[in-house]
Amino acid sequence: MLDPFYVTTAIDYPNGAPHLGHVYEKIITDTYARWYRLLGRQVRFLTGTDENGQKLVKAGEAAGYEDTQKYVDTNVEKFKELCRDLNLTHDDFIRTTEQRHHRVVQEIWETLEAKGDIYFDRYSGWYCYHCEAFYMEGQVEDLQCPVHGTKLDFLEEDGFFFRMSAYQNWIIDHIKSNPEFIFPNASRKEILSRLENDELRDLSVSRPNNGWGIPVPSKPEHVVYTWFDALINYYSAVREEPLKSSYWPAAMHVIGKDITWFHTVIWPVMLHAVNVSLPKQIHVHGMLLAADGRKMSKSLDNVIDPYELIDHYSLDLIRYYMVRAISSGSDGRFSVADMIDRNNNELANDFGNLALRVIKLSKKRIGDAIDSEGVTQEFNFIPLAEQMTQLMDQREHNRAVDKLWEAVNQVNAYLNTHEPWRIKDDPAAFKNYMYNSLYAIRCFAILLQPFIPTAAGKTLEMLSCKGVGMSGLEFGEYTFELGETEALFPKLELPGSTR
Ligand code: MSP
Repeated sequence: MLDPFYVTTAIDYPNGAPHLGHVYEKIITDTYARWYRLLGRQVRFLTGTDENGQKLVKAGEAAGYEDTQKYVDTNVEKFKELCRDLNLTHDDFIRTTEQRHHRVVQEIWETLEAKGDIYFDRYSGWYCYHCEAFYMEGQVEDLQCPVHGTKLDFLEEDGFFFRMSAYQNWIIDHIKSNPEFIFPNASRKEILSRLENDELRDLSVSRPNNGWGIPVPSKPEHVVYTWFDALINYYSAVREEPLKSSYWPAAMHVIGKDITWFHTVIWPVMLHAVNVSLPKQIHVHGMLLAADGRKMSKSLDNVIDPYELIDHYSLDLIRYYMVRAISSGSDGRFSVADMIDRNNNELANDFGNLALRVIKLSKKRIGDAIDSEGVTQEFNFIPLAEQMTQLMDQREHNRAVDKLWEAVNQVNAYLNTHEPWRIKDDPAAFKNYMYNSLYAIRCFAILLQPFIPTAAGKTLEMLSCKGVGMSGLEFGEYTFELGETEALFPKLELPGSTR
């Protein structure tokens, strides 16, 4: 039995509409979920929204809402709708305002307080409401947030602390002895160096209760610090049986690099302190940058509207572009011009054209059914699937697609070299080329399902192979039943305004 695969995205702040960075993270995560389902693993995919922060109260007020809950409910719908529009295969959507989450947060809090890892004291520091985090004076210039460039607020209050300092050596050891715990290695090194060079301080984990957030069980005039509560979502979503036994610990939390510290230091320490096993991996993706190379973020006001993109371009293209054109673990620019080039060259020409010309030619010259009689196997794509599996396991999704494309190009070269369409008087040779090419197309479509599910599904349908799993990579004695063909990737023109 293969291990189940529980995969999560970060939960988004619903303090506005979703942006392209959210889309990117969800698509990467969905690709892994689909990939491991294809391999036969039992997958659970969680996404959701992070609703308890003070920033939601402020954003609600700024948007003219008196009731933060109403404001949040309205925005959460946009995130849910996005998941539907992206055709994500998530199994659950958690909201941190749900009771199932509050219960688990309070349970963890009580355990930590009972063992003395949460204690009451006075704190002060410079706070950024966008980050929902404190900064030390040494970390900031002119008391501005190093991420958002906005003015920090000085806060000084009584509150609770989490005794992180007690776990500094433990977390260093954990990261050192589990090299796969943080992907990519650059993030792992950065975190280790920070942990080895700075003292790990206790974390302030409560705020005064202004009527929004999860009340601290022992002192309800305080609420739980939003990050401390938000991280727990991954666990609260599967806390009840039978989900817990099947899916905890999570296989992979997918997050953006701006929130690496929370996930690779604070979260594991929290879990370890309450004796809950740790997720296997924190997968840190890079930031999606605007075409001009600047960071895209709500606070910088340079975000590309995901809905416009979805309205104009196919989901397959958006997925393909995000997964292939942006190297895993690195920042990448999102350029509509580049995306269109890739549609026309890679999807339409390399793959779409290959599929259509082979299917049409076979139908025309042989008929709708092509059996394997007298055919000699010329390709074997089982090793390709193994290489892709290895790359996906190493979280190198763009390289997995590169590998597949090498094979696509190999088959295009095979056809261009042998030019079977010129064969007039050797039906056996012609059939051999067609059968082998159809086998190749079927294998590519199977392996492309997690990346471009719609086009891959249509291709399999044209070959009457819909629903075929990895066993379809065998060069078996099956007969191809060729159905109606339809264009997979219409060529696109660049809209004047976007280049
Ligand atoms: N609510 C926190 C996460 C809590 S997880 C326990 C948060 N929310 S967010 O809405 O600001 O971001 C959600 C995810 O989107 C994060 O993983 C973040 O890194 C990612 N991205 C935000 N902007 C992004 C880009 N421009 N590019 C890629 N991912 C981006 O942080």
